[in-house]
Amino acid sequence: MLDPNQKAVVIGISGCSSSGKTTLARLLRDIFPNTFILHEDDFYKPEAEIPMKDGLTNWDCPEALNIPDMTSALEHIRATGELPATFDSKEDINSIGPCPITTDFINTIKCRVADWLQPSSPGHQILKSPQKPLKICILDGFLLYSPPPLLPATLLSQMDIKLFLLVSKAKALQRREARDGYVTLEGFWKDPPGYVDKIVWPEYVRAHEWMFEDGDVEKARLRGDVRERLGVLVNSKKEGEETKMDRDFGETLEWAVESIMRELERLVLGKEEEDGQKEGEKEREDEKEKKREKEAIALNSFAMKKKWAAGQRERNARELLIKKAEEQQQQQQK
Ligand SMILES: Nc1ncnc2c1ncn2[C@@H]1O[C@H](COP(=O)(O)OP(=O)(O)OP(=O)(O)O)[C@@H](O)[C@H]1O
Ligand SMILES: [Mg+2]
Repeated sequence: MLDPNQKAVVIGISGCSSSGKTTLARLLRDIFPNTFILHEDDFYKPEAEIPMKDGLTNWDCPEALNIPDMTSALEHIRATGELPATFDSKEDINSIGPCPITTDFINTIKCRVADWLQPSSPGHQILKSPQKPLKICILDGFLLYSPPPLLPATLLSQMDIKLFLLVSKAKALQRREARDGYVTLEGFWKDPPGYVDKIVWPEYVRAHEWMFEDGDVEKARLRGDVRERLGVLVNSKKEGEETKMDRDFGETLEWAVESIMRELERLVLGKEEEDGQKEGEKEREDEKEKKREKEAIALNSFAMKKKWAAGQRERNARELLIKKAEEQQQQQQK
């Protein structure tokens, strides 16, 4: 449950560069009331202090960021419901390209949330209560959930809801190459050739492989304990045996909105996350079932082998008896 003194709930949105974090954060700010964004990119150190890797400025490592300042800003936001007074965002100036979904679709989602905010619905009590309207702070960052030593544990404890956007390397590369560049403290950054291959993707893998089964960020199967212990929610979708990443942006927006409404009901009103829990339980049951099947196949093949070996012993013994009988017969004939 949320601390009753908390004035704002913090929703982390993380994922590789070009996974759609800022696009999603800006849409959510329009969809939910009393919502503002804190961008991790506003906590970059000055360019002269950014580490170098293979002769290139490495903007994608934890050492490039001032994490203690970001953690303090989050503490302030949770306690007061406001951005720190001196805070000035340059990230909002960054262009993110055309919106990947239609206005009609956004309006449908807005209607869904408006229903949830009606006086008779749970959202009203959470975000529109005249006594204690909770604010929403969306924390948009490429590096938010990694455990120490990459990031301090205090940062993780400042996020109440944790969303993670998946993207394949091919899509991340294609989208990043289509971008103009980034506003920095000193000016403007444009990627040199090969920057995604040399810096962005390897740094993303280094900081996130721990979250996935077999450390494979592209197989996209989140480890069970990451979901259960850290509460990280991922926009993946199972399609048969495959886990689908690179989801259509509309699906991602719908998933984010539904997840936020469900999590807020759980955190603020203490409602059990029925659907989500059932989904999680179902996935765990499916995994157990698969394990049982594998064991059964292995056991079965062991039993078959045993049966075959017993049969073979019988066949050998029978052949031996026949051979002996034939030898005896030959001797008698002599
Ligand atoms: N699911 C999607 N389908 C289609 N286009 C998408 C999708 N997600 C993001 N995009 C597009 O990719 C581009 C990058 O998105 P965005 O700036 O939101 O990424 P980001 O995760 O904030 O990246 P960075 O960490 O580099 O700031 C935008 O042009 C956006 O419209
Ligand atoms: Mg961004």
